[in-house]
Amino acid sequence: MTNKTFELLDEASGKKTKLPVRSGTIGPDVLDISVLNKDHGVFTFDPGFMATASTESKITYIDGDAGVLLYRGYPIEQLADKSSFLEVAYLLINGNLPQSTELADFQHNIQRHTMINESLLRMFNGFHYDAHPMAMVSATVASMSAFYHDSMDINNPRHREIFAHRIIAKIPTIAAAAYKRASGQPFIYPRNELSYCGNLLHMFYAVPCEPYEIHPLAAEALDLLLILHADHEQNASTSTVRLAGSTGANPYAAISSGVSALWGPAHGGANEAVLEMLEDIGTVDNIPNFLAQVKDKNSHVRLMGFGHRVYKNFDPRAKIIRDMCHKVLAKMGRGDNPLLELALRLEEVALSDEYFISRKLYPNVDFYSGIIYSALGIPRSMFTVMFAIARTAGWVAHWQEMIADPNMKIGRPRQLYTGPVKRDYQEIVKRN
Ligand code: ACO
Repeated sequence: MTNKTFELLDEASGKKTKLPVRSGTIGPDVLDISVLNKDHGVFTFDPGFMATASTESKITYIDGDAGVLLYRGYPIEQLADKSSFLEVAYLLINGNLPQSTELADFQHNIQRHTMINESLLRMFNGFHYDAHPMAMVSATVASMSAFYHDSMDINNPRHREIFAHRIIAKIPTIAAAAYKRASGQPFIYPRNELSYCGNLLHMFYAVPCEPYEIHPLAAEALDLLLILHADHEQNASTSTVRLAGSTGANPYAAISSGVSALWGPAHGGANEAVLEMLEDIGTVDNIPNFLAQVKDKNSHVRLMGFGHRVYKNFDPRAKIIRDMCHKVLAKMGRGDNPLLELALRLEEVALSDEYFISRKLYPNVDFYSGIIYSALGIPRSMFTVMFAIARTAGWVAHWQEMIADPNMKIGRPRQLYTGPVKRDYQEIVKRN
């Protein structure tokens, strides 16, 4: 709490209330309005949470104007350059970078819990052959609550830790099972001696009839993408996990609700939408026509991979990933990818166009991530699944932070009701 206050005047009654201002370590102050309803009988109205801090958190900081992203205080650029996804997951969940023995223990715990129950695996055969992988992943993660319910006491810190290890260890296995189901290939079991991303590639691409060699750059690019997508403070899917988890629901069910929220094209589905958009545009010559549609309010066409609710200057993750995108395409022998050429030209044209400049619309991380995924041979329908693997670390960190908070309350927003006022039931014969 600071000494600063805002004074609110109820003009009808003349009643004044002082609203306290709370400061974080960095970032904008927040106005504590918790007494507003008790003292004045009013709620605040903020559709889309445009001006609302839904919680206090120590995990991730974003300065959208300056293009800053910090995980537990560490800049994303440094983590992308020096760290690994598992170290970042440890950092997000535990608050500090691990000592070497702590990291070794964490990695060991993740690498030894990669298999999923055979009954869970058999569930995949029940899905229709063309089921979207996100539907399969969401359903399978929710089903984990059926396997780990009695053993899960959310008030027991050790149980929470086991949950964290289990879900981070098993989400790649679930993702790979969804991929294999969609491609009609036999499921490939994890290999625990491999790195997190090496194992992911192995489960995706190995087949029983021939050896599979992991391309080191593919594993490096995936690890980078997982670091960049690991957390993003109170985004839609993380807020969903918090809201579902705040009811005391089984945490696997809460994570599954996050997977579902991530699926939408305005959130994690954007990288899939970027590739669809590039294919629809087809060639560089069609860019002007496409941008004319984007600017036409009635068309409802958006330049996918551009714009962000929080970054109104540039997305720092987009800068990092752009370089990796070039490296992957050059070194993995796909330097002549016409979609990348189209994407880069589209980016150049949009960045110099008044429509995008005046609205502060810049490429976000997903403008490039889909291109890297396609270069690695990952099908479009799996892009959001890759995002979900990364974001699981953030979801777990936020769920842990919320449940461990002694002041935690069930999330229960209010509304401005604009429906009919009270009216009497009419017998059906009397209705007109
Ligand atoms: N293409 C064209 N116009 C856009 C775009 C876009 N991608 N994004 C915003 N605008 C325009 C809006 O039409 C609006 O214009 P107006 O002032 O003339 O009405 C203005 O910019 C502000 O847009 P809002 O929708 O109010 O911005 P908001 O912050 O709510 O939206 C969002 C953010 C949803 C990400 C939006 O920019 C968008 O739809 N982008 C494309 C989808 C995408 O790439 N999503 C990925 C986000 S990153 C992530 O989840 C990892």
